[in-house]
Amino acid sequence: MKYPHSLNKTLISSKFLRFFLISSLVFIIYLLFSLYMVGPSKVINVSPSLLYLSEPTSIEHVVFGIASNKDSWPKRKDYVKLWWKPHRMRGCVFLDSMPQNSDATMNDTESSLPPTCISGDTSRFRYTWRGGLRSAIRVARVVSETVALNHSDVRWFVFGDDDTVFFPDNLVKTLSKYDHRLWHYIGTNSEIYKQNRLFSFEMGFGGAGFAISYPLAKVLSKVFDSCLERYPHLYGSDGRIYACLAELGISLTHEPGFHQLDLRGDIFGLLASHPLRPLVSLHHVDHADPIFPNMTAYKAYEHLFKAVNFDSNRLLQQTVCYDRWFMWTISVSWGYAVQIYGYHMYLPDALPVQLTFRQWDKNRENPLASVYTFNIREVHVNKCRRPTIFLMDSVSSSGDQIKSIYKRNLSEDCVPHRDSPWRLEEIRVFSKKLDLDIPQAPRRHCCDVLNSSAGAVMEITLRECAEDELIYMH
Ligand SMILES: *[C@@H]1O[C@H](CO)[C@@H](O)[C@H](O)[C@H]1NC(C)=O
Ligand SMILES: *[C@@H]1O[C@H](CO)[C@@H](O)[C@H](O)[C@H]1NC(C)=O
Ligand SMILES: *[C@@H]1O[C@H](CO)[C@@H](O)[C@H](O)[C@H]1NC(C)=O
Ligand SMILES: *[C@@H]1O[C@H](CO)[C@@H](O)[C@H](O)[C@H]1NC(C)=O
Ligand SMILES: *[C@@H]1O[C@H](CO)[C@@H](O)[C@H](O)[C@H]1NC(C)=O
Repeated sequence: MKYPHSLNKTLISSKFLRFFLISSLVFIIYLLFSLYMVGPSKVINVSPSLLYLSEPTSIEHVVFGIASNKDSWPKRKDYVKLWWKPHRMRGCVFLDSMPQNSDATMNDTESSLPPTCISGDTSRFRYTWRGGLRSAIRVARVVSETVALNHSDVRWFVFGDDDTVFFPDNLVKTLSKYDHRLWHYIGTNSEIYKQNRLFSFEMGFGGAGFAISYPLAKVLSKVFDSCLERYPHLYGSDGRIYACLAELGISLTHEPGFHQLDLRGDIFGLLASHPLRPLVSLHHVDHADPIFPNMTAYKAYEHLFKAVNFDSNRLLQQTVCYDRWFMWTISVSWGYAVQIYGYHMYLPDALPVQLTFRQWDKNRENPLASVYTFNIREVHVNKCRRPTIFLMDSVSSSGDQIKSIYKRNLSEDCVPHRDSPWRLEEIRVFSKKLDLDIPQAPRRHCCDVLNSSAGAVMEITLRECAEDELIYMH
């Protein structure tokens, strides 16, 4: 049956109007009633996030507690110098005692190092893990002793080892996703399944570094010594902190930008396939091979920081594009490496970590020791099917354009055919500074091979993808 058009409309609108009026009335009564019941102060509390957004978190709001000792500090302090900003950062390096003939003038305000603090006495605590180091108790107390430094205007406490390299801008980007006035424990676990099974998937591994929000750290430091009494049988310092936080009812918020790096050998594969989150930390800086060949471990990190200084947020972020003419797959891990496969790979096949490294455990008997907590792919047995690798050589900028240059890494011979990417010697990548203003939901960027590419040089630009743009070979 068909109603005449006009009648139909008026029927609907008068019905709708009545419904609308009644429901708004009900809503207003409800609102007044709830205001009356709860009182105005509680109602204001409903949107706390506005307040904390008024002043964004910066590195000045962070206090660091770095665990070291008199023997390792002289060797490791140069790594800390790479990321420490003396006039903007606060915190302390905790030592068991002062190193002898310490050239580093400790607590010198002109120094480019954090001040040093001597840890408190821990002889009253028992330590019963066999073969472990009782310094784990001293290191665990870095948490409460850092809080006791009593700095003002603190939002986050961040802890790490003397061989943890932090990327401060990315740390701040990551922490500012969270409301520092609530209780947060943020970090990551190990790359090795067996380590997590032993120590807990929910423990923030100490070397990767972890962050504790101010109000949680205050409470934790108040109760911490009582927790230490209960866990003499644990191995490490991070396990003791985890246990006490668990007793407070707090679990770990996993952030994959922190890296424990329980790995040996060449960690190229891991660095070249970073998750879509800012790189926050790298640990065990001198256990794996230097991250750039032909350099010492320290020089290699110093080299990486050349890229950090231009675009910290984009560091290691992976972008994939295709060269249609040659059927190549090109993967840019910004500021670190470009890889070119002389064939087509689907995007999901290009993203997993290449197994270029070895497990932490030198004893290979235990099959679980080489089970990783992320997807891996084997390095191709055929050398000619492996990607041609170009490593970051230099970064510069002009205006808002950042140019990073990658040079081919000399490698074992594979007789290249005419269309092989081996003929390339240099890749130039153009990008704009990445500003993760919505760090909760980053999206991978797109790239284009420029037609200015010629001879041994390929030029690439990185850009945001279009709304419905897909990354695949056309
Ligand atoms: C260094 O500074 C920290 C905090 O400012 C202080 O607790 C510590 O005692 C100082 N260390 C030395 C050796 O002066
Ligand atoms: C910490 O600072 C507050 C205020 O700045 C002060 O009242 C308190 O006594 C200080 N505590 C210690 C242990 O220095
Ligand atoms: C690495 O160092 C060796 C010896 O110092 C040198 O012969 C070689 O050219 C260097 N390779 C690169 C890629 O710089
Ligand atoms: C670069 O080349 C050197 C020499 O062939 C090799 O030892 C190293 O593993 C290569 N590095 C990468 C990341 O491919
Ligand atoms: C390169 O590409 C641009 C736009 O994509 C085009 O305008 C230009 O003509 C091309 N140049 C060459 C040499 O093909």
